[in-house]
Amino acid sequence: ADSIPVITIDGPTASGKGTVAQRVAEALHFHYLDSGALYRLTALSALRARVALDDEPALAQTAAGMRPSFRDGNVLLDDVDVSTDIRAEEVGNAASKIAALPAVRRALVDLQLRFRQAPGLIADGRDMGTVIFPDACLKVFLTASAEARAERRYKQLIDKGFSANINDLLKDLNERDARDANRAVAPLRPAEGAYLLDTSNLTVNQAVEQVLGWYAAVRKSA
Ligand code: CDP
Ligand code: CDP
Repeated sequence: ADSIPVITIDGPTASGKGTVAQRVAEALHFHYLDSGALYRLTALSALRARVALDDEPALAQTAAGMRPSFRDGNVLLDDVDVSTDIRAEEVGNAASKIAALPAVRRALVDLQLRFRQAPGLIADGRDMGTVIFPDACLKVFLTASAEARAERRYKQLIDKGFSANINDLLKDLNERDARDANRAVAPLRPAEGAYLLDTSNLTVNQAVEQVLGWYAAVRKSA
């Protein structure tokens, strides 16, 4: 399996990981892993089963017991489409908290590794290049200013018909960044050898082209 190429895209919230990773996956006909969805699924399952968000063994069991499936960009849990449910703000906040627990992270490792299938995988998250796929042939670390990211989240929410407040979003985003960067296990940081890409002033197309260009270059030199 180790000869199957992997591209990792890590970075903070709303840096564009999901959008860019899905576009690159389409261009290369690669599989796509949205690792954040697994933390969100664990959080959703825990909230529904009323598992306390600090009960590490019970949360790890919840994570290990899930049988999610991914179809055409939709996320299913026990054959029910939960794509919208896992995007709720409450679920995102719970996901960010339980993601700091080592037993929860361990429980999700095998599930993530199983996404590595021919002809290749592009995986996005926080620790794809540092922990889960350290042998990836291309590692990208996406960033953007907090203001640019808050603006993007704002637009996404308004487009979906939600109301939103840019100052609340900025505050929430800074809190989540701090939690991801300062936790003891798998903190958010660029992997060794990662290519840094600041997308503050880039369009989605420009970011996608940059990643595809880097991938073409690493393939050539391999
Ligand atoms: O949408 P947002 O960027 O806030 O989050 P996400 O990528 O959907 O992931 C939800 C939460 O899971 C994040 O806030 C992270 O704390 C956590 N996560 C993680 O710890 N490791 C990953 N590989 C992916 C997500
Ligand atoms: O996965 P992550 O939380 O990093 O971000 P996302 O869910 O892909 O959201 C990023 C949003 O910013 C999307 O609405 C994109 O259209 C937009 N955007 C981007 O991803 N990249 C740019 N260079 C410019 C805008």
